[in-house]
Amino acid sequence: LKEKNSEKNIVLIGMPGSGKSTIGRIMSGKLGLKLIDCDEMIEKKAGKSISEIFKDGEDYFRNIEEEVLKEISMEKRCIISTGGGAIKREENIFSMKYNGTIYFIDRDVDKIYNDIQGNNHRPLVEKKEQLVKLYNERKDIYEEVCDFLIDNNGNIDDTINSIMREEG
Ligand code: S3P
Repeated sequence: LKEKNSEKNIVLIGMPGSGKSTIGRIMSGKLGLKLIDCDEMIEKKAGKSISEIFKDGEDYFRNIEEEVLKEISMEKRCIISTGGGAIKREENIFSMKYNGTIYFIDRDVDKIYNDIQGNNHRPLVEKKEQLVKLYNERKDIYEEVCDFLIDNNGNIDDTINSIMREEG
């Protein structure tokens, strides 16, 4: 028997700055579900910030990310906000799908760029060209991996309602 969405984890994927953390935080409050932020778990595990971790190379970061996503896949009925690059490894896609419904939070790159101006702690998207390039590389993968594509270009309440509707 297929599990209902309402019994699985809610996994948010999408570009850095697309709204995953904000949406996760609001939904966690509304639904009374635990919020797990993958980047925070990675920082805890490594004992340093994302930027510090990246100084030892992206592979080093991705290895910790893979471990963290494996651990999180064992959770039951949580909201999981992932890092934008979580879809880069096949193993991670397996971990996210294992007990989760995957929502691709899609937001225009121009909006993302405006939002993250002056408050950018993200090593891979310091320049707009990097952000656009990453989006073009990843968009198809996000779409293919997700169970539902959620547009986050309008009102955030509408975004959240779209997810809630799928959750039943
Ligand atoms: C990354 C996104 C970041 C963080 C790391 C790598 C990426 O997470 O995991 O800097 O490859 O897109 P957010 O999407 O939460 O910013």
